[in-house]
Amino acid sequence: MCGIVGYVGSRGSIDVLLGGLKRLEYRGYDSAGVAVIDDSGHLGTRKHAGKLGILTDDLGATPLTDGHTGIGHTRWATHGGPTDENAHPHLGDGGKLALIHNGIIENFAALKEELLAAGHSFTSETDTEVAALLVGDAFRRTGDLTAAMLEVVNRLDGAFTLLAVHADQPGVVVGARRNSPLVIGLGEGENFLGSDVAAFVEYTHHAMEIGQDQLVTIRPDSVEVVDFAGTPVTPPTFEVDWDASAAEKGGWSSFMAKEISEEPEAVAKTILGRVHDGLVDLPEVTALGAEVLRGIDRVLIIACGTAAYAGMVGKYAIEQWARIPVDVELAHEFRYREPVLSPNTLVVSISQSGETMDTLMAVKYARERGARTLSICNTQGATIPRESDAVVYTHAGPEVAVASTKAFVAQIAATYLLGLQLGQVRGTLSDDEARGLVAELQEVPEKLRTALGVGERIKDLAHWMANTRSVLFLGRHVGYPVALEGALKLKELAYIHAEGFAAGELKHGPIALIEPGQVVFVLVPSPRDPRSLHSKVVSNIQEIRARGARVIAIAEQGDAAVLPYADEVIRIPLASPFFEPMLAVVPLHYFGMELAAAKGLDVDQPRNLAKSVTVE
Ligand code: F6R
Repeated sequence: MCGIVGYVGSRGSIDVLLGGLKRLEYRGYDSAGVAVIDDSGHLGTRKHAGKLGILTDDLGATPLTDGHTGIGHTRWATHGGPTDENAHPHLGDGGKLALIHNGIIENFAALKEELLAAGHSFTSETDTEVAALLVGDAFRRTGDLTAAMLEVVNRLDGAFTLLAVHADQPGVVVGARRNSPLVIGLGEGENFLGSDVAAFVEYTHHAMEIGQDQLVTIRPDSVEVVDFAGTPVTPPTFEVDWDASAAEKGGWSSFMAKEISEEPEAVAKTILGRVHDGLVDLPEVTALGAEVLRGIDRVLIIACGTAAYAGMVGKYAIEQWARIPVDVELAHEFRYREPVLSPNTLVVSISQSGETMDTLMAVKYARERGARTLSICNTQGATIPRESDAVVYTHAGPEVAVASTKAFVAQIAATYLLGLQLGQVRGTLSDDEARGLVAELQEVPEKLRTALGVGERIKDLAHWMANTRSVLFLGRHVGYPVALEGALKLKELAYIHAEGFAAGELKHGPIALIEPGQVVFVLVPSPRDPRSLHSKVVSNIQEIRARGARVIAIAEQGDAAVLPYADEVIRIPLASPFFEPMLAVVPLHYFGMELAAAKGLDVDQPRNLAKSVTVE
């Protein structure tokens, strides 16, 4: 959700803050603001509703006196609409303290009453201002920002990352986190705080994780971390494995266009180093112990949105290869129904950001109830992997566009590696079978490069369809989750009605939606599939064509059987059934993007959304 950055050092802080916010803007873009302590010990703030560019332009036209200590925020509104007043920072201690926040303070109403009774007045509708006033009051008593924050965080319920600066303590930024992301960037004579490493990767690759319920005080030459009881802790450090340029648009028209083009590398890097002698070798998984892996009697995949669709694809593969029953559940549904879990249940969470609150809470819930937890995650230093027993990182690189694309194919690749590893350990796959499947997986990046060739064709199609009001997507088996993914992309990017169905379900209701002109994308399984799903899907196409639907088929090279029935055929390279989803999704990712672009919409930052959903 919101993006947070803090800086202390010798550079001009406004440039550092705005640069960090630019790379964090994907987390929220309702409003933005900064607070800086200048060299004369004065706190200056500037904040605006709207995208970061409005703040940047304003600071360019009417500069704020710069200093070397500051905090910055980009907002995704929760309490109170996206207005100048509700934008962060919020002030306390008569305007000498500035505070920014990501998350939700659940007991803010009671705290607000207390503050009103004590004579405070409020300038915003946010829960954040409560924290700013409380820390301001505590500073007046203690004269120390760390002590003041420590006192207040122990009074707050809910999820929060808070950063604060005080005019009387230049050279100090204090941060605290509970169930909300915060990482530390360690520099030479300067230190940084950020919602994720993108905030500071331009300046340092050396980072420190900050744990749950911990508070950090950064100065130019020191970083001190304590838990909420005030006891010092030494969090682990890590090196960021990508450069700032990876999170820049380069010459691309949008981050999404760039990230779709990176789908081949996302899969290649996720597999890289994880195959030895033709077999999968995931030490992160085998470290759980061969006995434990052999004893698993159920896999439960939990995730949200696109990550859940990747999990649905993974379900088919893991069941097939490891012969373990696999369920996929939306994380926000999972923990509110008292699920049956045991130490033999492997709960696999999938999350690009590693911060999605619904998924995080589900992982914690599963772990507390004795299940083994493994996360598939794309973000180093994120919370979900830290809360899990094991982690398999996808190496898709930073994903900046709000709509997930390259992470989706990398997530599928990671679930396949997991399925193959489980199949190998449990003996449900012979070495020869496993080697054959691994070889096919290794061919996917090259096939993805070929699949990307459909871009121009899809662009034409999208321009021609710019006024379309409804699109349906049909798929079977592993094509079904891809249909759901195609529909989600269209909803979130182009704001049009779109639905994905299992093709076999059509006759059980959805076929009533088909009327002349209705556009239907159909994912056609390979005719070489031994289960004859191809002919069933071709029959489904005929059924909807007979009712006037306009059919766009996504079919493998050389499949001539679809030609008489489809208005358009988009070709994907030949692959066996399990490896088709990563290829078939490429035209659908392009289509969502190009239809949004044809409608003149912001492809990277669709309305109402944020990249990292850190509230439930
Ligand atoms: C859709 C999309 C979302 C995310 C979902 C989970 O394009 O990006 O549906 O997939 O919010 O996010 P992560 O993977 O960060 O947990």
